[in-house]
Amino acid sequence: MTTKRKSTKPHRRTANAPENSFVAGGFAPAPEDASILRLDTKPRRLLIGGKWVAGASTRETINPATGEPIATFAIAGPKQVDAAVAAARRAYEGEWSALPAAERGKLLFRLARLLQERSREFAVLESLDGGKPIRESRDIDIPLAAAHIFHHAGWADKLDYAAPGRRPRPLGVAAQIIPWNFPLLMAAWKLAPALATGNTVVLKPAETTPLTALLLGQLIEEAGFPPGVVNILTGAGQTGATLAAHPGVDKIAFTGSTAVGKAIQRALAGSQKRYTLELGGKAAHILFEDCAIDQAVEGIINGIFFNQGHVCCAGSRLFVQEGIADTVIRKLKRRIETLVVGDPLDKNTDIGAINSPEQLERIQELVAAGKAEGAECWQGPQTLPRRGCWFAPTLFTGCSQSHRIVREEIFGPVLAIQTFRTPAEAIEKANNTPFGLSGGVWTDKGAKIFKVTGALRAGVIWANTFNKFDPSSPFGGYKESGIGREGGLHGLHAYLDLHHQSPTMS
Ligand code: NAI
Ligand code: MG
Repeated sequence: MTTKRKSTKPHRRTANAPENSFVAGGFAPAPEDASILRLDTKPRRLLIGGKWVAGASTRETINPATGEPIATFAIAGPKQVDAAVAAARRAYEGEWSALPAAERGKLLFRLARLLQERSREFAVLESLDGGKPIRESRDIDIPLAAAHIFHHAGWADKLDYAAPGRRPRPLGVAAQIIPWNFPLLMAAWKLAPALATGNTVVLKPAETTPLTALLLGQLIEEAGFPPGVVNILTGAGQTGATLAAHPGVDKIAFTGSTAVGKAIQRALAGSQKRYTLELGGKAAHILFEDCAIDQAVEGIINGIFFNQGHVCCAGSRLFVQEGIADTVIRKLKRRIETLVVGDPLDKNTDIGAINSPEQLERIQELVAAGKAEGAECWQGPQTLPRRGCWFAPTLFTGCSQSHRIVREEIFGPVLAIQTFRTPAEAIEKANNTPFGLSGGVWTDKGAKIFKVTGALRAGVIWANTFNKFDPSSPFGGYKESGIGREGGLHGLHAYLDLHHQSPTMS
């Protein structure tokens, strides 16, 4: 795909035009428009050893806002997985390890700058392929992806300071399997630390959103990385399973469902492969009576409707202290009524399309279970487009701890609300889950923040805010939410062998 200058023709709505026009006149057209992309019709290829090659078969990726196919991409079979792992090994044992660390850093800085320069193109492509609102891909996904690469570029020649007294060494070839909810951002989360620490990579994007990772592959070439340092294999679960089980891989980094995470862990039992798994979540979002209610309501909205709720750390279980429950629920409903659901490429859109028909089915199934099990369902009044994958913002009240909508990850715009009386009750209910990825606490009292956040068994906890991310901050889970951390020093260590003492320290 190539860029062309933004057309000066009048703004033309792209996805689903007539039925998606929720926001009438009064707003200027967004500069983000599919017309800045010229999606070519040639099937996308795999990046192996610096060459773009064909796969074993092909598949289409759709725009979930319309259901229309937007591009064809290659599915990597066992032969291509072998070739990619071999290319990564050659690069690791050759040019990449011979390169001074500062030069590795320069390549990463160059990649981050190229990404910034082409951020608009990436944002449009991300929204087209995955359905997320352009406001999010433009203001969050792409800038954060660049921030991760910048942050790690700076570490490349300072790794001795990341592990004082040790002689950190790279692990070798890292297999990285990423999901569809933050396709480019997860690619950056995985690639940046792996490359900064001197590993080589075979990256597998998710099958519903392969396009931005492939475009990133073009930038990696443009930045001047030696061939084979980054290999990109598109494909579905089978490609991921073949890659994870490949004997030539030294480290696996996976983000996705708990079920697949467990399968990978089983397949690795007894092997020397290192791994980090970032899996599902069911975050408790706790509001105490002394919180700033209006800010908290904004936090709840952001916590559950950001990226259509396709967020592993989404605040999907809301716990409200009894005295403010009626007020919070009333304000929440009023705020939900103002959310704009529709065309992801419209800059006014708050909630875009559900990523795939399969994910929509999962959400529908769990919402039906919530109703059948006796919780009370309320949905926003938004009219949903007729074509494509959509789900209205949804609240459940009258939930109990045993309901499936409280226990299972829905990964959609669906919030399960419960009440509590005391901090102890909130903590007990919040921890009563197989997951432990994230949580949120809203209160005016600093001491309560420390007490409650200290008692929650979750890897990331926000206080009086939600869904804030920074490359220097480690992210990861407890229990079935996974193993290991990404970001910060902990994230660097996950790509390093730290078992070598520095002679000066021993
Ligand atoms: P998934 O776990 O199947 O997909 C994630 C990635 O793993 C994709 O790249 C996929 O191709 C790959 N994959 C699938 N099977 C594999 C295998 N056996 N070995 C290696 N790689 C494999 O997730 P899916 O089916 O798309 O979504 C199901 C549920 O998982 C969602 O409803 C959500 O609850 C959860 N999920 C959680 C994510 C997170 O950020 N923690 C991301 C995506 C899904
Ligand atoms: Mg797609």
